[in-house]
Amino acid sequence: MQKRQECIDVGSEYCPCYLAETNNCITCSQLQGKEFCDCNWRGVCVYQELLMNRNKIRQQRDYYKSEIEDIREIGKDSYILKLKVTKTLARQLKEPGSYVFLRDERLPQYFDVPMSVMQSDALNGEITIAFKAVGAKTNSLKKCDENILVKGPYWNGIYGLSSLKSVKEKTCLVLARGISQAPALLAIEKLVKNKNKVKLVLDGGSIGELFIHDYIKDMDIDTYEEDLMSEKGRTLIKQLLLNQDVALIYSAGSDLLHMSIINILDELELEPYLAVTNNNEICCGEGICGGCTIRLKDGTRAKACKTQIDSRKVIERRVLLD
Ligand code: FES
Repeated sequence: MQKRQECIDVGSEYCPCYLAETNNCITCSQLQGKEFCDCNWRGVCVYQELLMNRNKIRQQRDYYKSEIEDIREIGKDSYILKLKVTKTLARQLKEPGSYVFLRDERLPQYFDVPMSVMQSDALNGEITIAFKAVGAKTNSLKKCDENILVKGPYWNGIYGLSSLKSVKEKTCLVLARGISQAPALLAIEKLVKNKNKVKLVLDGGSIGELFIHDYIKDMDIDTYEEDLMSEKGRTLIKQLLLNQDVALIYSAGSDLLHMSIINILDELELEPYLAVTNNNEICCGEGICGGCTIRLKDGTRAKACKTQIDSRKVIERRVLLD
């Protein structure tokens, strides 16, 4: 039987959404136009929620006008941006995989760009984002002076979230390369909070800077520095895997990094939990535009912006197609 897909928003305050209203729900078979229920979802019933709400969807995410508290360059065309947001939004963005859409308020909606949250301070209502200016959207961000539009919270920035959030009192290996050091921070905070022993390997990648040092200096974790795509880097990963009983690996970097980790695991015949950054192109983030749709090995399609997909399946598929 085909496994039901798991929507990152199911059971949240944003569910049911437009997908339920249009019979395109990711999780609920009845809200896909079928006459039976086989969702396997053990939380709040999406179908019932929609009926109880008189077939109306819940209020969806909106834009906030956010004050820019600080912007500083950290490496080759890379920046750290600190934004003032509501305390509620900051609290919602504390989980690993959190991201927001950002846009210069003077520009049209198609300049919206998804950005991983690096740090979130719910007490002061602040979020910190790191970004690399590579195209029209990201270059427009560095020209914002006082305010910026923020839309969120979104949570599907990582595949393998259930393992990453549930692993406790184990050894975990975190590999963070380039600008993906940013999404690694919330994951490290979660792993440390759950009393895991974290081994972190940092690699400046294309930006050439290790900018999360300042944010992790008070944490009790072991840090290594190495080019993760080099032979030396691969050897270090193998040593760590062979000498430690690693329960989970979190790979924060490109799909090539993820694939290289999968190859190492296959070579060593190890099967720890694997969590990886979601590197799919995300456009609307709501499952509506279809821009992020990927076809998995078993032929099913998945909307990468809202669906939690097995890390291996999605990476092997993407790397094969590239
Ligand atoms: S980004 Fe639009 S459907 Fe996923």
